[in-house]
Amino acid sequence: MLIIVVYGTCGTLTFSTSDFTSENVVKINPRYGRVNNPNVALKDDCALRAFTIEMAGYIAPSFWKNKWISLSESAFQMNECNETMYRTYRFSNTRPPFKIKEERKTDACYRSVFVDDETGDDLSKGTFDKPLKTIQAAVSLTRILRILHGSDNTMCIVIRAGTYYLGTNATSSNSQLGAIALTNDDSNLIIQNYQNERVILSGGTLLQLQWSVHARTVTGGTIMKAQIPSYVKPDQFNELYIDGKRAIVAKYPNGDPSTQGLYAANPGFCFEWQKWWGPSSNKSVEIHVQEPNRNGTVFTNYQLGIGGGASVFDPPTNFWSTASPPGGDNYVTTRGITVNRGTLPNINNWTKPTNGWIHTFQGEYWGSWIFEIASVNSTEYTIMFGRGGFQEARGLSWGGAFYVSNIFEELDSPNEWFLDKDTRTLYFMPNETMPKIFVASQIPCLISLHGNNINSPIQNVQIQGMILSETTNTYMREYMVPGGGDWAVHRGGTIYLMNTKDITITHNLFTQLGSNGIAVIDYNDITSIIMNEFVWLADSAIILVGSTNGIDGFSMASQPVNTLIQSNLIHETGIYVKQSSPILIAVSRSVSVIGNLMFNIPRAAININDGFYGNHTLSWNVMFNTVRETSDHGPINTWDRQPFLSDAKQSGIPSLWQHYSYIHHNTIFNNYNALWPIDHDDGSCFYEDSYNFHVYGGKKNFLGHSKTDHHQIYVYSDMNRGDFGSNVCLGFYAPQRGYSGWNEVWIENTCILYKIPMPYIIGNCDTTDLLVPYLANNKIYIPNGTEVIFTCNVNGTSTKLNLKQWQSYGVDISTTVYSTPDVQIIIEWGREMLQMTIV
Ligand SMILES: *[C@@H]1O[C@H](CO)[C@@H](O)[C@H](O)[C@H]1NC(C)=O
Ligand SMILES: *[C@@H]1O[C@H](CO)[C@@H](O)[C@H](O)[C@H]1NC(C)=O
Ligand SMILES: *[C@@H]1O[C@H](CO)[C@@H](O)[C@H](O)[C@H]1NC(C)=O
Ligand SMILES: *[C@@H]1O[C@H](CO)[C@@H](O)[C@H](O)[C@H]1NC(C)=O
Ligand SMILES: *[C@@H]1O[C@H](CO)[C@@H](O)[C@H](O)[C@H]1NC(C)=O
Ligand SMILES: *[C@@H]1O[C@H](CO)[C@@H](O)[C@H](O)[C@H]1NC(C)=O
Ligand SMILES: *[C@@H]1O[C@H](CO)[C@@H](O)[C@H](O)[C@H]1NC(C)=O
Ligand SMILES: *[C@@H]1O[C@H](CO)[C@@H](O)[C@H](O)[C@H]1NC(C)=O
Ligand SMILES: *[C@@H]1O[C@H](CO)[C@@H](O)[C@H](O)[C@H]1NC(C)=O
Ligand SMILES: *[C@@H]1O[C@H](CO)[C@@H](O)[C@H](O)[C@H]1NC(C)=O
Repeated sequence: MLIIVVYGTCGTLTFSTSDFTSENVVKINPRYGRVNNPNVALKDDCALRAFTIEMAGYIAPSFWKNKWISLSESAFQMNECNETMYRTYRFSNTRPPFKIKEERKTDACYRSVFVDDETGDDLSKGTFDKPLKTIQAAVSLTRILRILHGSDNTMCIVIRAGTYYLGTNATSSNSQLGAIALTNDDSNLIIQNYQNERVILSGGTLLQLQWSVHARTVTGGTIMKAQIPSYVKPDQFNELYIDGKRAIVAKYPNGDPSTQGLYAANPGFCFEWQKWWGPSSNKSVEIHVQEPNRNGTVFTNYQLGIGGGASVFDPPTNFWSTASPPGGDNYVTTRGITVNRGTLPNINNWTKPTNGWIHTFQGEYWGSWIFEIASVNSTEYTIMFGRGGFQEARGLSWGGAFYVSNIFEELDSPNEWFLDKDTRTLYFMPNETMPKIFVASQIPCLISLHGNNINSPIQNVQIQGMILSETTNTYMREYMVPGGGDWAVHRGGTIYLMNTKDITITHNLFTQLGSNGIAVIDYNDITSIIMNEFVWLADSAIILVGSTNGIDGFSMASQPVNTLIQSNLIHETGIYVKQSSPILIAVSRSVSVIGNLMFNIPRAAININDGFYGNHTLSWNVMFNTVRETSDHGPINTWDRQPFLSDAKQSGIPSLWQHYSYIHHNTIFNNYNALWPIDHDDGSCFYEDSYNFHVYGGKKNFLGHSKTDHHQIYVYSDMNRGDFGSNVCLGFYAPQRGYSGWNEVWIENTCILYKIPMPYIIGNCDTTDLLVPYLANNKIYIPNGTEVIFTCNVNGTSTKLNLKQWQSYGVDISTTVYSTPDVQIIIEWGREMLQMTIV
């Protein structure tokens, strides 16, 4: 039973989802969310009473196939929402319902090749009784069978229980080329576990170690040491997994990045800086496309900076690298930090500081950076930075909360480790007893699928029933800026897809990973990612990143298209990279994200980084505990600052306008630092948002246009924090005639206020020249005994209007105002809306 409880002075909301699996009892404790800026005082608002799942008691599910249905049903929606219901949901523009792909049956196998790490032999026949030893040998054998029996027959690789250390003696450590590298020769293939057997694909190598005592620390700990075997590649050994869990790279201040962050009472970050060293700016070559443009909007022209400051990215381009990018500043990063005296008490004793990294939040907490340490002046308490800072695209001349890692002298706490690459010595401090299984990461990518090109993709492959784990981290590898969002992204992952068609990834567990979970890069048609769990990832879970030829995404189809991401459980992602998400949609077409459960993440659960093409559907998802470590964001975040040409409006006709996207029937808790449940930020347009249950926040328009909200329920929207953020059911910020705020609709919504009877903030509101959404038929609930307030300029003065006065200007016709009911009634409304089909 998963019980989601939001504690607060305004009442307790309790939701339960059925049968989350009995093994998986998740305890929830109320806890104050930590605000990024320690100078901002916490107010005693219920929105600030964040809740957290106590992961210490979390036990990874021990099942692989049989219980996925019940798991996915709980992810689907509270209680009994079921497929039939959302299939019959009709969109206002009569869009056809989404069709779910049938799961392929194993009896589709023309021939099965068996693999068993323990009893197998790569020279045997690959039968059930005489299995092969390695998966790579099985891939080779299926290629031969295909030549013998015809390439249209589906071959199956069936893997028996065991841990397959794919990192051992791996030849490539490329994050786009897997140890299992599938190509066009491998179309029509199923790779799966045998029945419910536990098959672990590890990106590491098992270490046989002879430990001896190196030293005892003042705090009573023991530092052990051992030589690493000759075949271990030290450069790829940047994560140590002990008994299947990520250990802590020696760091200051102490704390486990997996379970501690800005959300925790003890965050493991330090706030003691005296100064950040200003950046040196480096001019980029600028591209500004004058025609075509999106006249009538805020973000009219395509623009890009190349080289100069953008050279830290690969390719060396960044939307933010023009001198004055629209909606922000030129990309730069800080060059160094001077910490307060007394912070970093061991800094005098660091023998090899340039081994180290500094992890720091970007100063506005829009993401984080990791830098190599270039030099240290310990008398000045100054650390200057080398390579790095490209893990998000906005930049800034100062950082925020930080920690230093990979410094031997900071190895002073249980579960910390350090590798001296020169002497190949591994140091480790056990807690009490020495653990048994030490695995050194060796590769970031386990399985890759590379088709020849768009016209000749690898087709019809299914990957099912695996545990993918223990990979190399990639946060210091090449990052690129996919568009005008805030993101820079590493285009690699544990499973990597490029030039594919009809690929299904299902019933897998992605856990303890150094990189992204699944990277869907450039052209991939009909990718289905269904019923997987992602947990303990360094970066994002699923990234979809396409590409264009500059503004031209019309004559180039190198984008993911028709992707289905359904019924996945995604949590504890972004352990190192804070500008990361369970799901990133960048330069992609027609993505459906349905019935996923996402929580415990540093930033958005779903980020739509740009307005390329559109036609996305985000529905029936449940999101909570998002934006736990960053700021100015929401559980669902969208941007549209950079126009692209595509045929979204009309087939065969290039246009800068995109197709509508649909966000409906989601349950969204706007807790921790989340400011708007659906943060339609800079320029977002063409969204139809409906039937969502939002807790603690309202609708946002900022510099965008053409969005429709209808049949939404907004619960206690006035209980967000401070004067920045939602606070109302409709935040209509800075509309400007001829630029933003046009073609907006807000009708038939339910707005429930807890304390303040003010449903809207309408920027530039003036009754002589009203620029507001089309407002009608809304139900507004205000605290009992208060009067509703609509604020607008009348005769040049800001005036508080009552409903009748407000309606006298021709707006909000048929809108009604009532007293806020008991919270149980509100929950019933939510249940009813989420369970009923509304047509
Ligand atoms: C799913 O919804 C349909 C239509 O409301 C209903 O008849 C059916 O019993 C539901 N199924 C489950 C498993 O709840
Ligand atoms: C890896 O390579 C080493 C050295 O070449 C060799 O001794 C070892 O058997 C190899 N391990 C595997 C699993 O191939
Ligand atoms: C934008 O459109 C308006 C009228 O729709 C027109 O007056 C103006 O010249 C246009 N500007 C550009 C740059 O095309
Ligand atoms: C500026 O860019 C050039 C080439 O792109 C590079 O060689 C140089 O080191 C950069 N300077 C700074 C201060 O980043
Ligand atoms: C740092 O090094 C100095 C001299 O080598 C030593 O006296 C001191 O104890 C060391 N400090 C720590 C915290 O290890
Ligand atoms: C540290 O900075 C001080 C003051 O600028 C300077 O005198 C000293 O030489 C520097 N030390 C190192 C190691 O650069
Ligand atoms: C060390 O052991 C103690 C007692 O068993 C436990 O409370 C603590 O969490 C452990 N620390 C680590 C880092 O494993
Ligand atoms: C929109 O997406 C759906 C799948 O969700 C697809 O069937 C449809 O063809 C897409 N429409 C366009 C215009 O791309
Ligand atoms: C605004 O001005 C008009 C005409 O001068 C007047 O009738 C009306 O009462 C004024 N409204 C307010 C709210 O002051
Ligand atoms: C509002 O207050 C009045 C008077 O105290 C009470 O009769 C009524 O039931 C209250 N309404 C709600 C919805 O709580």
